[in-house]
Amino acid sequence: MTANRIDELTNLQMQGVNQKIELALRSDVALISQMGAYIIGAGGKRLRPRLVLISALAHDYRGEHHQNVAAIIEFIHTATLLHDDVVDSSAMRRGQDTANAVWGNEAAVLVGDFLYSRAFEMMVEVGQMRVMEILSAATNTIAAGEVMQLLNIGEVDVSVERYMEVIGAKTAKLFEAATQLGAVLANVDSDTERAMAGYGSHLGIAFQLIDDALDYTADSAELGKNCGDDLAEGKPTLPLIYAMQDGDEQTRQLVRQALSDGAENSREDNGERLQMIVGLVIKSGSIERTYEQAQSHVDAAIECIEPLSDSIYKQGLIDIAQRSVARRS
Ligand code: IPE
Ligand code: IPE
Ligand code: MG
Ligand code: MG
Repeated sequence: MTANRIDELTNLQMQGVNQKIELALRSDVALISQMGAYIIGAGGKRLRPRLVLISALAHDYRGEHHQNVAAIIEFIHTATLLHDDVVDSSAMRRGQDTANAVWGNEAAVLVGDFLYSRAFEMMVEVGQMRVMEILSAATNTIAAGEVMQLLNIGEVDVSVERYMEVIGAKTAKLFEAATQLGAVLANVDSDTERAMAGYGSHLGIAFQLIDDALDYTADSAELGKNCGDDLAEGKPTLPLIYAMQDGDEQTRQLVRQALSDGAENSREDNGERLQMIVGLVIKSGSIERTYEQAQSHVDAAIECIEPLSDSIYKQGLIDIAQRSVARRS
């Protein structure tokens, strides 16, 4: 199977999902449709909705709710991005200025709320209590994860465990809901549901680990968002935690200082210093260690779905997991 075969397989179904997304974005309030079209129209990888589709198809689902659930998941994801870019003071997303940079923080927060609440309206349309249960719990966990992360900003002693707890909540929970829901719609047994949830959760952790590594190593234009944001805002992600464990004395000192400066760190004033610290973090070997962690979660994700019967969809899930560590954007 070629690397993009699963994209081909789901492209047709994604057209249905995209139509549902477009329809749900409609509002009489012009700013809502305008901002919604701006961020959703910029694309993004649409990985989570594809996971819903593939998970449902892997279990021979024949209905149409998987497209609705896929659209809901992308709405929730996009709402979190609108809010996240306000909290992180980010200027670039999906290769363009962030919504908060264009329309201001107030509008970005409120339109994020609109997307969340529309997602809940769409859930009611699906009309399955189990779907509501999983999605409402996931949304709540994501919010808690973002708050936990906020509390970690500027903290130099954040443990690996605490960091993993944050990314498990803010990122992996939605991946978990995506793959679990595809299976739930297909009425699978509880072992299979657990296996699919486990796959999504491990994939989500790997995905965020790579995101945190790419914040140090990627090309901003290719990534579609500004690299170096995490260090500039004093966010203790795994590359920094490892650099404080493994780096030489100078690296440790500078990383601790940059972290505790936290949000005080103006990129304009500290551009060169931050750039130097990025270099030291890379030199400490912490990026490789972060990739090793990501790879172990990819392996665990693939192990979770081992019992699934062979199909192009199972192979697609394996491919997605394997490709997630090699991604550049
Ligand atoms: C960005 O997710 C937020 C993280 C969890 C790192 P994606 O990288 O999937 O964002 P889009 O949807 O493709 O823009
Ligand atoms: C992901 O965290 C945000 C959510 C899952 C809500 P990041 O802050 O690392 O994501 P990017 O880098 O801004 O996309
Ligand atoms: Mg962010
Ligand atoms: Mg990031």
